[in-house]
Amino acid sequence: MDQVPEGTYTIMFLTREQEKILAGEYGWARSKALEVIVKVGEALGAERLIEVEHAHVSGISYTNIGDAGLELVQDFYRGRAYARVYTTLNPGCVDLLSYSQIVDNRYRDKQLILNRYLEAMGFRPTYTCIPYLHRKPGPGEHLSWGESSAVIFANSLFGSRTNREGGPLALSSAITGYTYYYGLHLLENRVVEVSIAVEAKNKCYGALGLWIGYNVKSIPMIRGVSNDISGLKLMLAASAASGDHGLIVIEGVTPAKSYIVSDKVEKMYVEDRDLEEYIGVEPSENDKVLGYIGCPHLDPREFFELVDKIRSRGKSAKRDRDLLVSIPAVYSNLFIDEIHELKRYGVDVAVGTCPIVSKLREKYDYLVTNSGKAAFYMSRLHGLNTYIASIDRVLEIVFGG
Ligand code: F3S
Repeated sequence: MDQVPEGTYTIMFLTREQEKILAGEYGWARSKALEVIVKVGEALGAERLIEVEHAHVSGISYTNIGDAGLELVQDFYRGRAYARVYTTLNPGCVDLLSYSQIVDNRYRDKQLILNRYLEAMGFRPTYTCIPYLHRKPGPGEHLSWGESSAVIFANSLFGSRTNREGGPLALSSAITGYTYYYGLHLLENRVVEVSIAVEAKNKCYGALGLWIGYNVKSIPMIRGVSNDISGLKLMLAASAASGDHGLIVIEGVTPAKSYIVSDKVEKMYVEDRDLEEYIGVEPSENDKVLGYIGCPHLDPREFFELVDKIRSRGKSAKRDRDLLVSIPAVYSNLFIDEIHELKRYGVDVAVGTCPIVSKLREKYDYLVTNSGKAAFYMSRLHGLNTYIASIDRVLEIVFGG
């Protein structure tokens, strides 16, 4: 969770079994992991633990966690930790196929050591921020997920229940099967207090998500967007990046019993002019541009649609224009022909990573992307100017009209 409210500390009720785990009767690793969850839960005011069905562990990029993070994972492994629930892994910092000329694979050895420890503990080698590709969570199901874009998707699209966990908390849940019963796990905290009518004609979901993140501070209900899953995925990821949203109710999409509506609902509107500052300005011909699609990672339908679009253009990227596509690890085996085909058009496909959790080999002036989340982070991490556009416009800028 992002903040610890003041004055909420409690002593949590633990079952006899949970007390035995904490006392170390099942080994150091489970004891330590449960201690982390209990301490955070008590600081937040949680009264008990709950079992989770699925943990998704973020924060496993070696460039982000370094040797300290690697040592923590090694300690858990040596303490005989293993995944007690279905556990998926977020992207690491290397292109697992090593074909990418854009992603810098200099930490490949370290990342692969980290990956091997995690996999040896029974975590699934998914290396993606769309864990619902591998296991779709059910309505009301309790999860312990890191990765804000996945958390908000699970809560808003599936009606599942997870807080925005940090990597160590999700790791601890994987090892114990528990999380603290707090926040978005309780229906009483899933209360809509704002209604947003989307009146903008330009359905630029990435920019809309940024606008929500910056301008809306409580749980909103969104009206006036389509049920296009790809668009909603972009909107949710961007709002979770620019704000601290973990749930956005989408009219006609979010399962009815997964939220309640307050008696007092504030009304807001968003129009085209509100989105302009988040969309940004198109690059000039002289700018060195990175086009980027795949934040969050593409699902199979999205990937094949993109391949078709690039194939139908039949030409390679212009000078000073690169295109990066990031996809889940599972595709490295399944879609190898398509990955090679895209390479012939000068398109760089990075598997199991993304430019936000890795390093880039080259410097660019501009990022052109359909993703508000990518724009948000790439402007901060790499100092790039950003322009958010539809996939078709991104391709026009990279390949020429
Ligand atoms: Fe996924 Fe990287 Fe974007 S982890 S949501 S592609 S920042």
